Amino acid sequence: MYAFVVFAIFVVTAHGQITVPGVCDLTSSGINAIRIVNEELLSGAWYQLSRINNTLDTGDCVTTTNTIIITNNVFARGAADTRQVFNKTAIWKNATFTALPNGVYSYQYPEIALNTVYVATDYSGYALLYSCIQANMTHKNVYAWQLARSTQLTETQSRLLNAAISSVPDLNGVAWRTVGHQKENCQTGGASTLLVSPVLLAALLWNMFINIA
Ligand SMILES: *[C@@H]1O[C@H](CO)[C@@H](O)[C@H](O)[C@H]1NC(C)=O
Ligand SMILES: *[C@@H]1O[C@H](CO)[C@@H](O)[C@H](O)[C@H]1NC(C)=O
Ligand SMILES: *[C@@H]1O[C@H](CO)[C@@H](O)[C@H](O)[C@H]1NC(C)=O
Ligand SMILES: *[C@@H]1O[C@H](CO)[C@@H](O)[C@H](O)[C@H]1NC(C)=O
Repeated sequence: MYAFVVFAIFVVTAHGQITVPGVCDLTSSGINAIRIVNEELLSGAWYQLSRINNTLDTGDCVTTTNTIIITNNVFARGAADTRQVFNKTAIWKNATFTALPNGVYSYQYPEIALNTVYVATDYSGYALLYSCIQANMTHKNVYAWQLARSTQLTETQSRLLNAAISSVPDLNGVAWRTVGHQKENCQTGGASTLLVSPVLLAALLWNMFINIA
């Protein structure tokens, strides 16, 4: 009996970007991806539940809203506006995307261009996005995001998502960074900011006036 053990060699760069040996080719048959995506069904809001560390995302409470433009029944382009909260500050990362052949989408962020595939999605519950960029001759930077239509997955969605993750060799054994969606993760601005409604303020002042008079 021989036991084959595969060691994945992950290199984490200074910015938390995961780098693995290999050539980035999203059209390769070795990459499990949806090759014919129904873009229209990607519309609307998605919660980012988890990601592998990357240079683009920094915060929690991450949501992406997709706007899909269809012209003459053909996908023309999309916008993916991502809002996240880092250090109690909301940060927007807005991308536009267009379709390349074989289910690859070219995302243009202000700071980076990323080619991305949908490894799996049921459109209404969960989605797994995978992306890579050639870092140098021998290594690629990899990206992956677990998205969902709500902040919690059903057992079935969770099983399908995990199966999708297992189907991508680059994602075997990577550490996922869970994205918080609790109140404390989503809070922005000063924690002690007290908003008093004008009506309440008027009532308080009136009360003081009555008591003084
Ligand atoms: C978080 O925000 C506070 C107040 O705005 C600031 O003083 C601090 O440097 C920020 N921390 C980081 C890590 O950006
Ligand atoms: C990103 O998009 C949102 C709405 O989708 C908008 O409110 C925000 O101003 C945009 N931010 C930038 C930096 O373009
Ligand atoms: C390519 O990048 C990897 C990871 O950052 C590094 O370990 C390797 O030495 C680099 N190779 C070359 C030829 O620069
Ligand atoms: C991701 O990066 C953050 C901050 O750079 C670090 O604290 C965290 O441990 C990293 N998580 C994983 C799963 O690599």
